[in-house]
Amino acid sequence: MTPTPDFDYYPHNHNIHSAAIIERGVSVSWDDGIESQFHVYWLRENAADALTCHPESKEQQIQLLELPEDLAATKVSVSAAGELQVSWSNGESSSFAPGWLRAYCHQAASATFELPKRQHWSEKDLGAVPRFDGPSVLKDREVFGQWCEALHSKGLAILENLPTDETVIEQIPALIGPIRQSNFGYSFDVRTSTQSTSNAYTSMALPLHSDLCTREFMPGLQFLHCLENSSEGGNSLLADGFYLARLLQQHAPEHYATLSTVPMDFYNKAKDSDYRFSKPLIGLDGNGELDEIRLSPWLRAPLNAPLETVDRCYRALRYLLKLSEQPGNYITTRLKPGDLLAFDNRRIFHGRSSYDASQGNRWLRGCYGEREELWSQLRILSREQRSGKR
Ligand SMILES: [Fe+2]
Repeated sequence: MTPTPDFDYYPHNHNIHSAAIIERGVSVSWDDGIESQFHVYWLRENAADALTCHPESKEQQIQLLELPEDLAATKVSVSAAGELQVSWSNGESSSFAPGWLRAYCHQAASATFELPKRQHWSEKDLGAVPRFDGPSVLKDREVFGQWCEALHSKGLAILENLPTDETVIEQIPALIGPIRQSNFGYSFDVRTSTQSTSNAYTSMALPLHSDLCTREFMPGLQFLHCLENSSEGGNSLLADGFYLARLLQQHAPEHYATLSTVPMDFYNKAKDSDYRFSKPLIGLDGNGELDEIRLSPWLRAPLNAPLETVDRCYRALRYLLKLSEQPGNYITTRLKPGDLLAFDNRRIFHGRSSYDASQGNRWLRGCYGEREELWSQLRILSREQRSGKR
């Protein structure tokens, strides 16, 4: 198999029909009619030979400035194995695997590294929180993959039938990636405490919210493992913040514009920490797509803005809150001992109904992780499928 400059697998699904030298690059015609154009530096620095690409790390070991200013292809051909072969003006030559070229071909709009599509949901769309057997996730790669995919595409999933053991909250999230510590520790206990450092540690109802909106980077994932839930009340509320943002955009574009452009102030109230951050409640990525939404009824700081802006923000926020509380726009579920709820903390709002702490116990153990760890796992799972290992 032709080497590639990484550890991935690239099925040879398309043959190179022909190749030609063009200004500053090489053009490739594929068997399905796609015409690719590859820049000379792009090709040269991604060659898989041992002098360009370190044989062990697979990282580039040539420097871009080591390549001649006027580097050009002098001869191109297609080998019997279907590789693109290029001779360079400085006397070097390179070979490229067709599967690798096609995966990175801009003109073919390759989906090789795309993550599963996010599916925004209302209560009707979702029906119920996707559930998977926890012990199976630990031993079956297929089930692990299904859990990861649901967690990404729906933004949430529950593992059930796990032991009610205090260490589960460290074991399960670690299947995806490192746990992110916070001022609440490596993991935290959500139960009624006599010294509540958060509203979460009381028995009061918690409206829909995201955690740690006070941070520059809110934790991307949250995990909550239920050890006890025998109290009256204490049901979990969940809503898709991205679905609500789209509703807002459709029904009140002026409020969407406010919440996606005007920074809101967030701060925590603690004796020994002072986290503050200002950011629009709705965050968009470089393509204008929804990237995050931060909602915190009790961590919003007094807004430091002119009265007109404050008024605009309150009207927009109240509109969003009404949307979030509208029946059909959120779901209610009950965690039972042994359930572990995982969700995208930068997309999914969570909350709970109040409960009676004098009768029965409600105890969840939680921790945080990052979305990029989940994305990495999904790409590795996809790589395993491409390689035929699964
Ligand atoms: Fe929370």
